[in-house]
Amino acid sequence: MRQVKSISELREQLTTVRNSEKKIALVPTMGNLHEGHLSLVKQVQAKADFVVVSLFVNPTQFVEGEDFDSYPRTLESDLQLLDNLNIDLVFMPNADEIYPDGNEVTTVVTVPELDSIYCGKFRPGHFQGVATVVSKLFNIVQPDVAIFGNKDYQQLLVIRNLVKNLNFPIEIIGSSTMREKDGLAMSSRNQYLTDSERQQAPLLYKCICETAKSLENGEKNYAKLERDAVSSLKAAGFRPEYLNICDAKSLKTPKNQRLVIIAAAWLGKARLIDNVAVQTL
Ligand code: PAJ
Repeated sequence: MRQVKSISELREQLTTVRNSEKKIALVPTMGNLHEGHLSLVKQVQAKADFVVVSLFVNPTQFVEGEDFDSYPRTLESDLQLLDNLNIDLVFMPNADEIYPDGNEVTTVVTVPELDSIYCGKFRPGHFQGVATVVSKLFNIVQPDVAIFGNKDYQQLLVIRNLVKNLNFPIEIIGSSTMREKDGLAMSSRNQYLTDSERQQAPLLYKCICETAKSLENGEKNYAKLERDAVSSLKAAGFRPEYLNICDAKSLKTPKNQRLVIIAAAWLGKARLIDNVAVQTL
């Protein structure tokens, strides 16, 4: 497994790969890899000849006061896990390589509307940071295909939009959410939970699933379903930011039968997000 830190070296290595007509895949991550990340790698390995995984804790997507400094960084074990999967190249730049002019004075990419609702409303600037770094990674690696998790559903929509609007010739794959045995979506931020919070945490997914079941059973009063779910979360000690039933494509008010229930809630120091797609009759 090649380990590359600089853009120039990466480009040099990838030119050879591209010249041999190999299909290149990119899996962008912030490291601290878990089974969710590894599932993306395994899925894309079946689709491409050369897999690049990036490890970069992107400063510009952390809003002031968030956990940028304390975000878990576990480079050694990440490299071991990726080596075990036989990936071809790991790109692990430092911040100066990605933002040579500093974080504040860089050209940015914004995805209007989608970037200011739900997670975008509670984390202003977050999706601009994501859209910017992902665009940079796309330009640096120039992959044929890139894969992202459905777990970060709004992020996936932001990326699909930027690829469409900026004409990146890249196939985007959305991959299903990997969960712990009790249903909790795997996330690096689950480590912030205390033991007792960890016991409570699967309730977020449970509430979303119950809402999904009601929708599938024909319940049409979305506002009531949302209120009930939020109340259950509050009663269990969560601090919900939102739980909404939305159109699966735009996250706006549902217009057809393809819905998604998206939610974000704090439990202690951890901000948990999750979602479930629903097809109503
Ligand atoms: P990170 O949180 O490290 O996640 C990297 C990728 O793994 C994302 O596509 C995310 O959706 C996916 N992922 C995380 N948890 C998952 C799970 N339980 N099951 C399946 N996939 C999961 O998301 C980011 O990093 C960053 O915003 C990034 C896109 C790298 C830009 O900096």
